Amino acid sequence: MNKTSFLPVDFEWGFATAAYQIEGAVDIDGRGESIWDTFCRLEPTRTNGANGDVACDHYHLWEKDLDLLTRYGAKAYRFSVSWSRIIPFGGRNDPLNEAGIAFYNQLIDSLVMRGITPWLTLYHWDLPQGLQNRYGGWLNVEESQLDFERYARVCFERFGDRVKNWITLNEPWIQSIYGYSTGVNAPGRSSTNEQSEAGDSSTEPWIAGKAQIMSHIRAVIAYNRDFRRQQDGQIGISLNGDYYEPWDSSDSLDWEAAEWRMEFQIGWFANPVFLKKDYPECMRRQLGLRLPQFTHEELALIEEAETDFYGMNYYTSQFARHRNAKPLDTDFRGNLDELQCNREGKQVGEESGLYWLRSCPELFRKHLTRVYRLYGKPIYVTENGCPCPGEDGMTCAEAVNDPYRIRYFESHLDAICKSIHEDEASIKGYFAWALLDNLEWSDGYGPRFGVTFTNYETLERTPKQSALMLRQMFAERQGIILAA
Ligand code: BGC
Repeated sequence: MNKTSFLPVDFEWGFATAAYQIEGAVDIDGRGESIWDTFCRLEPTRTNGANGDVACDHYHLWEKDLDLLTRYGAKAYRFSVSWSRIIPFGGRNDPLNEAGIAFYNQLIDSLVMRGITPWLTLYHWDLPQGLQNRYGGWLNVEESQLDFERYARVCFERFGDRVKNWITLNEPWIQSIYGYSTGVNAPGRSSTNEQSEAGDSSTEPWIAGKAQIMSHIRAVIAYNRDFRRQQDGQIGISLNGDYYEPWDSSDSLDWEAAEWRMEFQIGWFANPVFLKKDYPECMRRQLGLRLPQFTHEELALIEEAETDFYGMNYYTSQFARHRNAKPLDTDFRGNLDELQCNREGKQVGEESGLYWLRSCPELFRKHLTRVYRLYGKPIYVTENGCPCPGEDGMTCAEAVNDPYRIRYFESHLDAICKSIHEDEASIKGYFAWALLDNLEWSDGYGPRFGVTFTNYETLERTPKQSALMLRQMFAERQGIILAA
């Protein structure tokens, strides 16, 4: 093994999931509804007729899933808590649901007993419907941040003796843009998508973004002020983001477009959270006052909130080509086109089982290094993975043979190693998405991201070849000898 392929022994690794995508049992033991329950029910065509009512039935089969983690040798497991299982109506004065808390307590206890480190995401897109009804959910910046803080405090209080790794929000960009601009995710508001509930996509995504930024900030401050001393954990946020190269590398405007695209996707959140400053300049310039301002009081909170790590969800990369025309009011990209081919016709990477996902490990390395240099915090890759070409229609017997996924993992681990050894980035962990095939949001149960095949009729789980490979890959890179 080449010297630059090594990873430190304490490098964290495991698999990830999210509550609504796997749990099912949506009306069991006092769980309140979330915006995803409503979204799937109102117009089933939006999710190919799928919903999370049963999903992988992890709520009942969780022990089997932890057995898989043990079998795969995982050191850590990233999962999310369903807010409306803990506080069915969601609000800061609403009652707690002890049965929901008990579910996560037993899950956490069992992880700890197995020697698997829990990584807990507080919010993975499933806002309590109660808050949506009460005040419009993320469109109410003032209310939502206070309710989120209370929810976070309950989790710190009830789980923080055993949970030392916290992720406040998963991909606030997707929640804001897909939920309020394209309308393809809950709550499905959009002024450009006819299938959606009407909303004002020129302003709403930016308001929802601010509500989530302030929610993160408040949760971090609560942890730092009242829990950190005793619990001694760390807290971060998981941001999605593709890496962008210029479509025409000889055109400075395309270089600028690529940079702006990443600012609109990542800087939007990372500037306030990690740099403690206003949104990126290019966003302010294009969006003007449609991008809400931070008040003095909010800036003081932003200044106080010390976030420990950058959670990176990374899947693919693209090319950016600038536009000359004036941007539309609903433009959320930074006035450019995104393409999978550059000017010379070169594809950005090898095609996977999903049109938007191409494997581009070289660009992943650039992405890691860029993010580390810009924001200066240790990075945990909190999601990375893919469906294999053609996997969508495969039987279990076919799908368990997944060389494309194995290659994807291997090449992306190589990129991490290069970024650490050659670019001196601090990267401390890796979570493969996902532990098992699950509800892929508006794509329903088609795309399969799991290292475990889920039979959605029998709920049987079958490990794919990639499931056991990660353990071997990490053992090799960490210099660990596995027992035969
Ligand atoms: C999300 C996951 C999702 C995955 C694959 C991420 O955006 O956090 O919930 O399943 O990408 O699309």
